[in-house]
Amino acid sequence: MPQDPKRYTITSALPYTNGPIHIGHLAGVYVPADIYARYLRLRGKDVAFICGSDEHGVAISMRAKKEGVTPQEIIDKYHTIIKKSFADFGISFDNYSRTSAEIHHKTASGFFRKLYDDGKFIEEVTEQLYDEKAGQFLADRFVTGTCPKCGNEEAYGDQCENCGTSLNATDLINPKSTITGTKPVLRETRHWFLPLDQYDAFLREWILEGHKNDWKPNVYGQVKSWLDDGLKPRAVTRDLDWGIPVPVKGAEGKVLYVWFDAPIGYISSTKEWAEREGTDWEPYWKDKDTKLVHFIGKDNIVFHCVIFPAMLKAEGSYILPDNVPANEFLNLEGNKLSTSKNWAVWLHEYLEDFPEKQDVLRYTLTANAPETKDNDFTWKDFQARNNNELVAIFGNFVNRVIVLTNKYYDGVIPVPVTFTPRDEETLAELKKYPEIISSSVERYRFREALGELMNVARLGNKYLADEEPWKLIKEDAERVRTIMYVALQVAGVLGVLSEPFLPFTAKKLQKMLGRPVSEEKSPWDAVTEGKDILSAGHRINPAELLFTKIEDAEIEKQLECLEQTKLDNKAGNKEVTPQKETISYEDFAKLDMRVGTIIEAEKMKKADKLLILKVDTGLDVRTIVSGIAGSFKPEEIIGKKVTVLVNLAPRKLRGVESQGMILMTQNSEGKLVFMNPDDAADNGETIS
Ligand code: 2FM
Ligand code: ZN
Repeated sequence: MPQDPKRYTITSALPYTNGPIHIGHLAGVYVPADIYARYLRLRGKDVAFICGSDEHGVAISMRAKKEGVTPQEIIDKYHTIIKKSFADFGISFDNYSRTSAEIHHKTASGFFRKLYDDGKFIEEVTEQLYDEKAGQFLADRFVTGTCPKCGNEEAYGDQCENCGTSLNATDLINPKSTITGTKPVLRETRHWFLPLDQYDAFLREWILEGHKNDWKPNVYGQVKSWLDDGLKPRAVTRDLDWGIPVPVKGAEGKVLYVWFDAPIGYISSTKEWAEREGTDWEPYWKDKDTKLVHFIGKDNIVFHCVIFPAMLKAEGSYILPDNVPANEFLNLEGNKLSTSKNWAVWLHEYLEDFPEKQDVLRYTLTANAPETKDNDFTWKDFQARNNNELVAIFGNFVNRVIVLTNKYYDGVIPVPVTFTPRDEETLAELKKYPEIISSSVERYRFREALGELMNVARLGNKYLADEEPWKLIKEDAERVRTIMYVALQVAGVLGVLSEPFLPFTAKKLQKMLGRPVSEEKSPWDAVTEGKDILSAGHRINPAELLFTKIEDAEIEKQLECLEQTKLDNKAGNKEVTPQKETISYEDFAKLDMRVGTIIEAEKMKKADKLLILKVDTGLDVRTIVSGIAGSFKPEEIIGKKVTVLVNLAPRKLRGVESQGMILMTQNSEGKLVFMNPDDAADNGETIS
């Protein structure tokens, strides 16, 4: 890709309309994408920033069932809420569409049809999971089971969110229906498969050889591991009643797999935008001089780096993404964000408590973005970042400059007299920042870029604190004119460079400075060229506070709300897995559960979630592979009494044979906990 492409197509993952959006969505996908899009626009680039609601698939049907309404009612409700949240937080999409739109149905059907006509699919009757009680086939989120790769017992029928592996429902060990809790049977049905294995060489060359150095290691590493495990044909149709009908004869009652239609949603949303703007959509997807970038969360990597590119390649006329800068996950106060457990900061609720503080959240989420590892959002950190950084550094500097300029010069920027070496140094340093920040943004390092932006405010703050114009004004008014001129240049540069990160603040600041950035063709480049950003003689406006302190009581209130959520969850106001089908005593008696003790534990190499345990079962010492490394360190669990299912058929996980299972449950915060027997019980005692 040339250094300076002709245009940019920036997409951010289409959120499912099965609930409102929370801080995890903003931090992982939409704020970084927005920073990138705003930055490019400030540089005068041609940008299409595209998104929309993902309104098909099992996630929607499940929510509709839960709320006792139709899928259409669900998508209408959440599409409206989500779209408003994005607008409220300044996410500057050029178009926000929805996959229920006619233009999308046409585009997705057309895409499928083209691949079908070109013979790119395998059509096959295979055995799929079927829920006899519900009378329907099970796919995707309608079925859960144990991931054959990492042992996570809550993997979905199309993906394990623990290790990111993309699965076929029939790969799951011990599958169970999420509709009725029953064990599915196998039943024959006809489907269309994309033979991903045929794209292996193309994917290896394009990603493993072509993007070794510019893609994030987490993305590259995941792709490499899937390719090394071997790709299999993947069904792109489903036996469901909610979705886009499969546009071929003999496919009545079948719909497109949601992950087939959703990424095509980027294309249909671009079409919708182009139609409205009176421009042509095709160059944004087909011209080699377009840079396509997908912003997503880590659970979407396989779909954007393997399946969608294989679809685009099969179609033949599309470009491929230049980068897929996926983020890791954000946690909240140490626990995984969870819609069903209401463990989240919902954007619409945040704004009720902190109206006008959109940028504070954008700032905190960027400063703490899960760019290279999962990160934690805490309310204390939020308060500290606001009070100690935004108020004390950025806001304080700007306020002093504006107040003093109004006070000393009635708001008119003074003519500088003589620049001292310190002034020259400050102006020279200031002019380096656009390039420094550009370099970070262009490498998708938004935390780093934001840190550099704050260094501009620090530069100004320190300059004013050292030069103390308020002390000099009486004895050396001439010197103060130069100091204020220099300080105003720093404020002016902040007004431009902060726009991608803190758009509401930048707007206010530009208004105070009387210099709206939008009037320039490329304001960023104007700063880079080193021109002084505010001219002597220009009149600024009165000061307004950019940030205000957040008091302890406001934070306590948020923490209390979370405590209440924990209590509610404990009290059983949460989703409870439906009871499984009845079994006989004889069935139960087949389970041989014993008291055991973990005597050794080590992490499995190259498997984030797996521990290899040696367990004394009273019968023997055996190896058990357990998917608990995300919750426990090996040294924490040595000596722990556990309940072991000892007669589970052995199975290999990553090449190591696991000879049993440790029984676990989850607490109200979603943390794994052992079902540990009383310490007095001896190893080998049976549990009945
Ligand atoms: O994980 C999700 O929320 C999906 N709805 C993302 C879809 S991205 C795309 F391809 F549309
Ligand atoms: Zn897994």
